[in-house]
Amino acid sequence: MKPKIYISRKIPSRFIEPYKDSWTIEMWPEEDEVVERDVLLKHAREADALFTTLTEKVDRELLDQAVNLKGVANLAVGYDNIDVEYAREKGIVVTNTPDVLTDTTADLTFALLMATARRIVEAEAFIRSGRWTTWTPFLMAGADIHHKTIGIVGMGRIGEAVARRARGFEMNVLYHNRSRKEEVENNLGVQYVSFDELIRTADFVVSMTPLTKETEHMFDDSVFKKMKSSAIFINTSRGGVVNEEDLYQALKNHDIQAAGLDVFRNEPIAENHPLLKLDNVTALPHIGSATYETRSKMIELCLKNIDHILKGEEPVTPVQ
Ligand code: DGY
Repeated sequence: MKPKIYISRKIPSRFIEPYKDSWTIEMWPEEDEVVERDVLLKHAREADALFTTLTEKVDRELLDQAVNLKGVANLAVGYDNIDVEYAREKGIVVTNTPDVLTDTTADLTFALLMATARRIVEAEAFIRSGRWTTWTPFLMAGADIHHKTIGIVGMGRIGEAVARRARGFEMNVLYHNRSRKEEVENNLGVQYVSFDELIRTADFVVSMTPLTKETEHMFDDSVFKKMKSSAIFINTSRGGVVNEEDLYQALKNHDIQAAGLDVFRNEPIAENHPLLKLDNVTALPHIGSATYETRSKMIELCLKNIDHILKGEEPVTPVQ
């Protein structure tokens, strides 16, 4: 009997072609719609492996029913949608997609930082709406990036890649992380500081930290109040690390200057969400790793991980 695989989002058939003879593959038929929960549960009950995206909750309810399940391959480096501990207890291997998306996500983080600082999106909307009457000295004036201080919260692979880009702009790079990374400090010329010092001194505070019980809502009112009034907050990690109501108040009251957000507590963020009403917010629909090249590599990696798990081999990128 061939192993059964369920893929929770439509992906192009060329990716699954190499596995068609070895696996029985079923797939949610929509690319832009989340799999219905009961459909996911039904397939989880029968599947040997699941290919999931960050919109699927792989929780106790699902894992308790998934009697044949050997592995879950998540199409993301983050895995806060999965109860990894419980999966481990059940002997189910969880994999993610690190490395292949590092530079792409760092590119987007830097693009968002630049767009926010230089008001690129606002300026583009301005010109398209016919409001450009003449050159003026401070028309759409923003903040400089070069030679400023960037504070990176969470110095994982993507944090390091953001630091490399920042050094290219001759920025002073501070970071805070659970543990110091002396090799990174030596290689990149970055400086470890306490969280408190980082938020008080950085011109750009960049969240690169995964969402865990410890990091949930770590950016709240008390943090925004300590930042410089000229600070720009960038988040390309997970929306849950921010208290969005507090961020809204900080931006509205100009406690901080602006925010660039690729991620939100609830995605998709509602069209009428207060944050989207603010001119000093640049918002993107969670596209950190969204390039054709990288998303293709992520899909290939998920399938390779499933292949290894089903063969009883160590997957390429298990969640440790
Ligand atoms: C990730 O990989 O965790 C991103 O947020 C999704 O591309």
